[in-house]
Amino acid sequence: MRTVSVIALKGGSGKTTVATHLALAAHRRGVATLLADIDPQQSARHILSARVGDGPDVIETTGPKLLAAQFAAVGLKKELLVIDTPAGAVEDVTEAIVLSDLAIMVARPTLIDIAGLARTLSIVRRLGKPGVVLINQAPVAREKVEAPIVQRALRGLNYLQAPIAPVVLRSRTVYQTALETGRSAEEMPDKAAARDAAALWDFVQGELADGAPAASQANP
Ligand SMILES: Nc1ncnc2c1ncn2[C@@H]1O[C@H](COP(=O)(O)OP(=O)(O)O)[C@@H](O)[C@H]1O
Ligand SMILES: [Mg+2]
Repeated sequence: MRTVSVIALKGGSGKTTVATHLALAAHRRGVATLLADIDPQQSARHILSARVGDGPDVIETTGPKLLAAQFAAVGLKKELLVIDTPAGAVEDVTEAIVLSDLAIMVARPTLIDIAGLARTLSIVRRLGKPGVVLINQAPVAREKVEAPIVQRALRGLNYLQAPIAPVVLRSRTVYQTALETGRSAEEMPDKAAARDAAALWDFVQGELADGAPAASQANP
């Protein structure tokens, strides 16, 4: 079983959106998936509970109980554990990173988010875990040229020597409307968002595959 945690010490960057999309993407591809929600707000659990029909399993738990949840997931023959984490809770987030094969650090392309990421990055590095930064809520690129705000964010991330996911999630209302009913953007008519969500899954699956190089190097 592989474990991926979705983290950011700052709130509102899109952790729950990313965690639920990854769990739904895996489930839709036949991967036995459990989402462990350690955010006291329980947003991911509420989202997935609103889903009609089958979906990934989801449990409410806490940082200190995550190890037991991971054992339980193995016992249930799950192939993927996705951990959605709260903002700010360094100890709980640390538990999640320790148990993960990959930590996805979600950040909006804003100065505040990128600056806030430095601390998250240092925790991931200190724990020696593979981690990658995913830019979320970015404006749509025009003719493959990123908006200035995204270019600045990428420069900031390079300055921090942060590994950056090759997929950028755009700001699209469909992520919000889809999750209202526990669905992924992949299950909605907006093809662009569906493509991005699928590309995110493909990337994460590749990183979690046996023998994949750890995402620990900064992008050139
Ligand atoms: N790519 C996106 N496009 C549009 N809205 C988004 C996107 N990602 C997140 N949001 C919205 O931003 C808000 C915060 O996202 P959420 O996933 O709850 O963040 P977090 O879990 O980090 O607090 C929510 O209202 C969510 O619907
Ligand atoms: Mg959340």
